[in-house]
Amino acid sequence: MRKKIVAGNWKCNTTLQEGVELAKAVNELVVSKGDKDVVVVLGTPFTHLTKVVESVDASRVGVSAQNCAAEAKGAFTGEVSAEMVKSTGATYVILGHSERREYYNETSEILNKKVALTLENGLTPIYCCGEPLEIREAETQNDFVKKQLDETVFQLPVDEFKKLVIAYEPIWAIGTGKTASTEQAQDMLAFIRSLIADKFGKDIAEEISILYGGSCKASNAPELFSQPDIDGGLIGGASLKAEEFLGIINAY
Ligand code: G3P
Repeated sequence: MRKKIVAGNWKCNTTLQEGVELAKAVNELVVSKGDKDVVVVLGTPFTHLTKVVESVDASRVGVSAQNCAAEAKGAFTGEVSAEMVKSTGATYVILGHSERREYYNETSEILNKKVALTLENGLTPIYCCGEPLEIREAETQNDFVKKQLDETVFQLPVDEFKKLVIAYEPIWAIGTGKTASTEQAQDMLAFIRSLIADKFGKDIAEEISILYGGSCKASNAPELFSQPDIDGGLIGGASLKAEEFLGIINAY
């Protein structure tokens, strides 16, 4: 049975003090009222990782970085390595988010290095893909997403690939309040799962968790999560509000 996962991506939000407060509030709600069958993850800024790990019940709430360096260590001022992320107690790393691809020019080559280092350090990549609006309007989103995966994580050996979580986030739905329709989300996740089956076999395709991200809220999560190929969500804005985030966690 593949895991249901609801992961928050706080992005560049909250001071350390605010983040610890938010983590404690989410943790209290998850421990007391959260669906025990849902894996909950908090994707925090690097600066918060250690304190957030210390603030939550690790058996109920995991912690994720939102990025890592493409190098193992060395003269790369300002970078944070996968090994450093691991040393904080975090166990996940969000990689390939469209904002990093767009604003920081993260290419497939760079992402391949980051995925490899994340896996080498025993961390779980939450690997993002998704098309911009003009691709969706041209109805070539399947080719676009397939290319993103073919150039990166589909090159992994099966024993490595199966450790990943995949997140589909249509760029035109991120932060816009314009959620993909349930049909659009289900169709793309079913397509991604079919690609995985073709590449790695049906068993792997049935086991890997594939998430939807893009204006997912407590109000639309129940319908999205009712879909056969949607295993949860990667949540931006709504993860910054503890009660709203719990509403998504309990949406099944
Ligand atoms: O990584 C999740 C994020 O991109 C989605 O953002 O605010 O549309 O939920 P939001």
